[in-house]
Amino acid sequence: MIRLFKITAVLLSTMALAACWERPPMESKQQGYRGTGMVQISNPRTVAETAALHEAPPAPPAASADGPKAKDVYQNVQVLGDLSVGEFVRTMTSITSWIAPQEGCAYCHNLQNLAEDSKYTKVVARKMVQMTQHLNVDWKNHVAATGVTCYTCHRGNAVPANLWFKATSNNQGRYMLGDDAGQNKAAKSVGLTSLPYDPFSAYLLDNKAIPDIRVNGTTALPTGNRHSIKQAEHTYALMMHMATSLGVNCTFCHNANALQSWQNAAPQRVTAWYGIRMVGDLNSGFLTPLTGTFPPNRLGPSGDVGKVYCATCHQGVNKPLNGAQMAKDYPALLYKGGVSAQVTAAPADAPVPDINGILGKVLFEVGKSDLGPQAQDVVKAAATLLASNPAVKIALSGYADKTGSADANLELAKQRAFAVRDALKAGGVAEDRIELKKPEFVVGGSESDARRVEIVAAR
Ligand code: HEC
Ligand code: HEC
Ligand code: HEC
Ligand code: HEC
Repeated sequence: MIRLFKITAVLLSTMALAACWERPPMESKQQGYRGTGMVQISNPRTVAETAALHEAPPAPPAASADGPKAKDVYQNVQVLGDLSVGEFVRTMTSITSWIAPQEGCAYCHNLQNLAEDSKYTKVVARKMVQMTQHLNVDWKNHVAATGVTCYTCHRGNAVPANLWFKATSNNQGRYMLGDDAGQNKAAKSVGLTSLPYDPFSAYLLDNKAIPDIRVNGTTALPTGNRHSIKQAEHTYALMMHMATSLGVNCTFCHNANALQSWQNAAPQRVTAWYGIRMVGDLNSGFLTPLTGTFPPNRLGPSGDVGKVYCATCHQGVNKPLNGAQMAKDYPALLYKGGVSAQVTAAPADAPVPDINGILGKVLFEVGKSDLGPQAQDVVKAAATLLASNPAVKIALSGYADKTGSADANLELAKQRAFAVRDALKAGGVAEDRIELKKPEFVVGGSESDARRVEIVAAR
């Protein structure tokens, strides 16, 4: 009998544990320096199951840009007026399939009079067109050439699957539990941790008023230091949201030996830095001003509008729709149109993160100087970073490992630096921003890390 109990207990605990782990094999991809744990783990079966969500729908055939303009033919076109009638109708058809595939044109229009603005959905949609154009034109620092369409957030739903509302105060004093201070519940928004479940109101509501997202104080003594445990908890909560929204772990952006260091961080951290500002800009510039337009049933518990965060676009992958370049097929979303397009410009005075030190390490096979997949990823990331930071210049240092003769190694290191320079040029980096350093070979060890080209920022 006791034995039976024991077996049952073992079985039960095994079952309980089995629910918390995922069956191997897992896939891992090294993405930073060796020995720093900068590696991303993914479960190929989960990836396969969710693949359909991250696929971009095919684009309808292009329409002619010639012929009369929409503003000359229709009565109430305030934003998309400069499109040809053909392109305008193509845009309406695409928008319908992205937002309201079941309801059709009637989701936004009174079909008796298409010019009328009687449905709130049409008023919202017009602002959303401006918001999408603003993203593609002014936030290239984040969305790059990939860009966004309505589908990036909506995926066939009128209300995007991932958005947030302000948390209401949860004072449970009358149950003797006290106020939970907005935390201590396993919340999905922050990766099922018990961290504060609404770090968003502080950091993502308005890009002009973001408190420091920091843990370390900037002064040695506590005088005036606002980086308390509370700030730390909010910072970590936001970080959990960012990591889970992108389906990555912390080392996708940070080198875990110094979370605060920009120098050792991956270039993706800079993209994320812009992302935080971009989201605040979307929420304060577009969503919050629409609060009065939405009917009450669309608003949150404290009467606020549904807002954007990282998960709204990313939905679990590091690049929305796995980086599919969907926006390029929709000219309507790539320019800022319309007389009434009163959109907030990207903040010109946004502080530029300090870009210093090694931007990337391009690794090579033994005896080779051509770029493999890792190398191409690193070069691409560096080119993106350089495109959005025109003041930064770079130096390239080529290295070879110690195997082989000194002459051959110096030549190899040089060829590697040339290969990276050519790839950067092909990626749009002007040649006069690239300096080539004297090639070197590494005396000790023959680690793969020795066969590299370092891309180093030099302002
Ligand atoms: C998600 C909302 C939405 C859906 C669905 C939608 N439209 Fe529109 N439609 C708009 C908006 C917004 C405008 C105004 C655009 C502007 O101001 O630049 C507009 C304007 C128009 C106009 C110009 C009317 C005028 O005289 O001013 C036509 C025509 C039109 N849509 C046709 C269609 C058709 C056909 C469909 C279905 C295939 C459709 N729309 C589906 C939002 C929508
Ligand atoms: C997608 C990129 C990204 C991921 C993933 C990420 N972070 Fe961050 N992290 C950032 C950025 C960007 C900042 C700086 C934010 C700012 O200043 O606006 C930051 C700041 C921090 C800070 C504050 C450092 C300081 O200066 O005091 C800590 C601590 C931190 N992150 C921890 C983590 C942890 C822990 C994880 C994993 C749960 C994580 N981060 C995941 C991008 C990321
Ligand atoms: C960055 C993400 C994002 C993008 C891109 C985006 N939307 Fe939205 N959309 C939202 C959010 C968030 C809401 C608010 C949902 C709520 O509170 O009901 C919303 C709401 C709407 C609604 C109201 C739906 C309803 O039933 O209440 C319409 C219509 C809409 N969007 C149309 C569009 C169109 C058209 C485009 C492309 C031109 C677009 N959206 C692009 C995030 C986005
Ligand atoms: C409006 C949609 C949208 C929102 C909201 C958004 N992103 Fe992105 N993000 C993108 C797009 C599009 C790309 C792909 C850009 C490219 O191809 O280089 C991207 C790329 C990134 C990358 C680079 C990934 C890589 O593999 O190089 C990081 C990191 C990132 N986003 C972090 C964030 C964080 C953190 C947030 C929330 C604070 C956020 N994003 C919110 C659209 C969005």
